[in-house]
Amino acid sequence: MRRTQVGIVGAGPAGLLLSHLLHLDGIDSVVIESRSRQEIEATIRAGVLEQGTVDLLAQTGVGERMKREGFRHQGIHLRFGGRSHRIDFPSLTGGRAIMVYAQHEVIKDLVAARLAAGGQILFEVKDAAVYDLDSASPKIRFHHGGGLQELECDFIAGCDGFHGITRPSMPSRVRREFSRVYPFGWFGILVEAPPSTDELIYAHHERGFALVSTRSPQIQRLYLQCEPDDEVKNWPDSRIWEELHVRLQTAEGWKLAEGRIFQKGIIAMRSFVVEPMRYGRLFLAGDAAHIVPPTGAKGLNLAAADVRVLSRALAAFYSGNEEPLKTYSETALRRIWRAEHFSWWMTSMLHRFHDESAFHHRLQLAELDYVVTSRAKAQTLAESYVGSPL
Ligand code: FAD
Ligand code: PHB
Repeated sequence: MRRTQVGIVGAGPAGLLLSHLLHLDGIDSVVIESRSRQEIEATIRAGVLEQGTVDLLAQTGVGERMKREGFRHQGIHLRFGGRSHRIDFPSLTGGRAIMVYAQHEVIKDLVAARLAAGGQILFEVKDAAVYDLDSASPKIRFHHGGGLQELECDFIAGCDGFHGITRPSMPSRVRREFSRVYPFGWFGILVEAPPSTDELIYAHHERGFALVSTRSPQIQRLYLQCEPDDEVKNWPDSRIWEELHVRLQTAEGWKLAEGRIFQKGIIAMRSFVVEPMRYGRLFLAGDAAHIVPPTGAKGLNLAAADVRVLSRALAAFYSGNEEPLKTYSETALRRIWRAEHFSWWMTSMLHRFHDESAFHHRLQLAELDYVVTSRAKAQTLAESYVGSPL
């Protein structure tokens, strides 16, 4: 039987960053991952890093490529009624901003750093299960390299995302789940085209929400609100461009640059939180414990915030102070619920709801108008968007 101090299930941003932070504190960990290295390094997901996430990656030695290849954005545009309105982050938040740098690039940087430091990441494991969670030596069993393996740990970190096995391993009597499923999804594309905008555009339109984001000077990331049960085959390129042009058009004649669409996918929209994020010696972090709709760009950042709290608490434990581990769930949940509220608010303000009355539509426009004309309201959005320090 193998042994480690912290067994980590899942090599997403939460699991890899936790392993990296623990290593810097001299704590040993093993990460097990069901997918291959190629797969995790190629999965297209989030793109926006809060200032606190950027600072954490830079301060812990995994920010070199991000600093070179990422794009610092000082604001976003809110577009509605055919006009764009800029929210300036630095002036509203005391100099803070965001970085556009794709999640799979963060993953590549973290995998490279872990492997260079001799870290253990076991890819393509099968049938992982966690046991003895309320004992002093919890265990992970899994198949790897053709054989059954058992990993004995001091602690297990459940970083295996929303569909993972760790959260359901907590007895149902000890967990309380809060959830909301939205009546729409996001259709996301990657396009070979130059940027159409210097900063992200969040557009409210009666045909539905649209978002213009970016990945590089050659590749753009665009989203549009679609049906919750929609399918990629319903969206030929011509329909995608038509919808994007309509939803994003302005009175000043703003132009969206078209190009070859080389990736299409649909993202479900949900809010979810489990409380508490701990059972015995199992600690949940990231999407395993909570989901936000992507409108606030918080998913990846919350995962980073959780593991910052958890790595500090584990370091304190090994130095003889158990208190921070006892309050891990409570500490993490304060930030999580703030982000849940912000993501729900942005989603509610910007999307078209099926059962929406003309009254509700006017209320959305009134709120957007308030955000772009009141410094206090703009500051509320900006503060939440750039996030607080980790
Ligand atoms: P994950 O990234 O989900 O990582 C979990 C890892 O655990 C995965 O690698 C998985 O393969 C592994 N795993 C699962 N089960 C097991 C098992 N049984 N055994 C071993 N390993 C296992 N957020 C945004 O802000 N903007 C976006 O545009 C955006 N787009 C998204 C698109 C999609 C399709 C999804 C699913 C999420 C998106 N998110 C987005 C959310 C953001 O990407 C997540 O919040 C972030 O990935 C959370 O990181 P994590 O490490 O907690 O979980
Ligand atoms: C992205 O670039 O993928 C992105 C940006 C902002 C969001 C969500 C996704 O709110």
